Amino acid sequence: MNNKLKIDLVEESQQNSFPKNQWFVVALSKELKDDFIARKVLNIPMILFRDPQGKVTALEDRCCHRGMPLSSGHLENGQIRCGYHGLLYNATGQCVEVPGQDKVPNKAKVKNYHVIEKQGLIWFWYSFEYETPNSEVPDYPYHEHEDYLYDGDVYHYDTPYQLIHDNLMDLSHLAYVHLKTIGGNAKIHMNAEMKVTQGDNQVVVKRHMLASDPPPTYSMAYPFQAKVDRWQEIDFRVSHIRIWTGAIDTGTDSLDNPERNGFNMRGFHAITPETENTCHYFWTMSTNPQHDRERIAKVVIEQTRLTFDEDKVVIEAQFKNLKQFEHKEMVGIHIDVGLVRARRIIADLI
Ligand code: FES
Ligand SMILES: [Fe+2]
Repeated sequence: MNNKLKIDLVEESQQNSFPKNQWFVVALSKELKDDFIARKVLNIPMILFRDPQGKVTALEDRCCHRGMPLSSGHLENGQIRCGYHGLLYNATGQCVEVPGQDKVPNKAKVKNYHVIEKQGLIWFWYSFEYETPNSEVPDYPYHEHEDYLYDGDVYHYDTPYQLIHDNLMDLSHLAYVHLKTIGGNAKIHMNAEMKVTQGDNQVVVKRHMLASDPPPTYSMAYPFQAKVDRWQEIDFRVSHIRIWTGAIDTGTDSLDNPERNGFNMRGFHAITPETENTCHYFWTMSTNPQHDRERIAKVVIEQTRLTFDEDKVVIEAQFKNLKQFEHKEMVGIHIDVGLVRARRIIADLI
């Protein structure tokens, strides 16, 4: 970890009800090309761009002169010029030029947040206490694994971030929401054997569905013989969720073998609050086609996109209705175990 990095902590006044001392995803690397991104995360408006060496930087989206959003301006060789009176800031947030004035006031600078780019993801250290992060940036090897190809996208949701956690922690909804893509037989889904284990700020849900029919996406991507043994392993980690799903021809390997072959889909889901009632959903899908790799990966990723579009419709409709029936209770059922534990972890952290 680089201790020498000069970073600014999030201000006390920006404290809010999100889990602190966490690495949150604020962008996908592919989003940051020649221009900046203005994005509010965890109630903090920031502007992200690359310095002249290509390193990602995140500054508070507020000019220190008269408070204009820096994102109203434009980039000049890896520096940002305010769109109001032209103050120019370098990637550390220091003002380096005041048009028409020789001396730049010492205090002319803006906050520089701690971001690190790794494996195609841009992570932001969200803390009020620790300038030096007290945990490593998460490692996500499937973005650089030779057997896997991946792509992804960013969705903006008009819902609280935890409704997306709820959805991902409970994959029984596949049988009802995603019938056309990765779904399958409702009875098998709802009756799948499920094991839930808990670690330090982590919940793992494993579901095995033996001798099922391969769903449409699977059959398209992999030459299954007939019935398949399917698995879904959900690994919840506060700022993101890893979901490993896949199938092998029935009986050809144990679903407890971590090296098992077959068709694999490794979903990465980082859900970063924007505000209390809105969020950013960064997702990628990594898959391991055996033949015609580029084409099949592309199809799998497009199918994934369709399923996530289906989820968005459901979750936004759910939130709209929750607001209409604000005072009504929700009744728990057996499939809620994972989401209840994930919510408990977040509640304990806040
Ligand atoms: S408000 Fe940015 S230069 Fe004046
Ligand atoms: Fe879904």
